[in-house]
Amino acid sequence: MRLVIKKDYAETTRWAADYIVEKINKFTGPGSFRLGLPTGSSPLGVYRELISMYKAGKVSFADVVTYNMDEYLGLPADHPQSYHRFMWDNFFSHVDIQKKNVHILDGMAKDPDAECEAYEKDASAGGFQLFLGGVGQNGHIAFNEPGSSPCSRTRVISLTAGTRIANARFFDGDMSKVPEKALSVGMGTVLSAEEVLIIITGYNKTKALKAAVEGGVCQMWPISFLQTHPRGIIVCDEEATEELKVGTVRHFRGIEGISS
Ligand code: GLP
Repeated sequence: MRLVIKKDYAETTRWAADYIVEKINKFTGPGSFRLGLPTGSSPLGVYRELISMYKAGKVSFADVVTYNMDEYLGLPADHPQSYHRFMWDNFFSHVDIQKKNVHILDGMAKDPDAECEAYEKDASAGGFQLFLGGVGQNGHIAFNEPGSSPCSRTRVISLTAGTRIANARFFDGDMSKVPEKALSVGMGTVLSAEEVLIIITGYNKTKALKAAVEGGVCQMWPISFLQTHPRGIIVCDEEATEELKVGTVRHFRGIEGISS
């Protein structure tokens, strides 16, 4: 696993955006560049950077196919807190991506299990060049809560109280307004990508980063499954490294060619 430590949130997200743009620009096919995408505050800076790079003519998304990680069950696409709205407001509307190339799970599907099955089939048929993700404080990726299998695929998931409390900030601070269930790609879906890039920033993610890097592979910390991926990358800020050993930070900084 590669651990890239940047000074702060701005540098972390700039690094991630540069990485994504380089991958898109170097991609020669066959087919379109297939990219998995997250929501949340972690990727917001990445989307801002990608938009400005698009506007500066450094990248085009015209031939990029995206699949979002998750969606709340029971939220219509036009709900202010739906991940559909998040993605269109914060990214898709500002770049040249083709609507037909955007895929987001339907939170209002009549048969959510069938929706998940069809989404997984479609996503895994083409595979992914890169899956971008954030992490929850409890180590979840997408909505793969602790206990998720590394082989899990897209499915309906019950959210933990901790995740609903953490996400209440987007629902007027009221946990009861946060849906109890979500549709989410599985850990197996994410790990099937050629590369997985996870952004981890801030003091509230220190435990997740420690589990990801220094802990053993364990279903109670789904982020730790990244250790089993041949091309897993975490890009984090200095705040998030607070609970890592000094030696761990030095080790990874040394590999990246930065002396501490
Ligand atoms: C939600 C999303 C995750 C995201 C997590 C952390 O639970 N489903 O994909 O990684 O929140 O969000 P944030 O980046 O805002 O801390």
